[in-house]
Amino acid sequence: MAAERLVICCPGFDATPWVQRFSQALPGLDIAVWERGHVDARWAVVWKAPQGFWDANPQLEVAFNMGAGVDALMQARLPEATIVVRLTDVGMGVQMAEYCLHMVTRIARRFADYEAQWRDGAWEDLKIDSAEHWPVGVMGLGALGQRVLQSLLTLEYPLQGWSRTPKTLPGVQCFHGMDQLGTFLGASRIVIVLMPLTPETHHVLNAQTLRQLPKGAHVINLARGPLLDADALLASLDDGHLGGAVLDVFEQEPLPADHALRRHPLVQGTPHISARTRLKPTVERMAAQIQSLRSGFSADQLEGVVNRTRGY
Ligand code: NAP
Ligand code: GLV
Repeated sequence: MAAERLVICCPGFDATPWVQRFSQALPGLDIAVWERGHVDARWAVVWKAPQGFWDANPQLEVAFNMGAGVDALMQARLPEATIVVRLTDVGMGVQMAEYCLHMVTRIARRFADYEAQWRDGAWEDLKIDSAEHWPVGVMGLGALGQRVLQSLLTLEYPLQGWSRTPKTLPGVQCFHGMDQLGTFLGASRIVIVLMPLTPETHHVLNAQTLRQLPKGAHVINLARGPLLDADALLASLDDGHLGGAVLDVFEQEPLPADHALRRHPLVQGTPHISARTRLKPTVERMAAQIQSLRSGFSADQLEGVVNRTRGY
């Protein structure tokens, strides 16, 4: 059995605030910051851990991911017995809700056009469709997708959601599986992507599926860049099928300054900030989980355990 020690592995990021918070939350617990090789520790907190970390530490019982998405982690050769736990919400849901409310209302109420006319000195009441004519579809009905839907419900947008397995959510028409993707997209004037990147979801929005959206639809991708084929998106914007895109995530990050997406007048972007990891609640969550493991709780029952076969 490995020592009751926590090792933090986040090369290139400052581990100091994490060490400080964990020391406050779990007084007396031995905490190490990984530099190289083996560390006699039961638990790890990781972000972008290199392969060398995993190879040298097959004893780890649980690896806590500092983020919600585990697509990068799933590319590593992880120790077989290590349980991976990801963040579920912990302050991210409210940030995603904030971002989506801003962007959805910006699109539906034409606030970008009002900003432009204000600068031009114009004074015109622009024609808009009310919320009931702006059905919003959310791809991914997990911790974040559900929180976003809940917040949009209060503004009376017709809502639908799409997931891998069937779901029932109040006020949301739910679709699932590839067979129902076309129907879901066809009814979404704004589609918000909030699902994990896995081999199944890579380029789920491509030339063919983007065509299934109604003419003039908008795409908001807040999950991972490779869920959306950027070339197909640009083509659909250029040929007038799509009305706009809001992107927080990209196949290449940082997005190069001269990338075609940056120059496109119908694309708006942010640098992967739609929901950041919040240090305090995250450490509180992980510390409570470590405490429960110390008192004999089974690691595979922790909230946020990743199904490594499924990839999320
Ligand atoms: P989650 O709780 O795991 O929910 C994922 C949802 O996606 C589930 O509803 C799942 O369906 C669905 N899904 C997975 N594979 C699918 C498939 N093949 N077809 C249809 N639906 C599928 O994830 P979350 O916590 O909400 O986070 C979602 C993603 O957001 C993360 O993976 C991460 O990449 C991204 N993220 C981005 C930021 C940012 O700042 N940009 C911040 C945090 C997270 P089932 O319900 O049927 O399993
Ligand atoms: C951020 O993108 C995360 O997955 O937490």
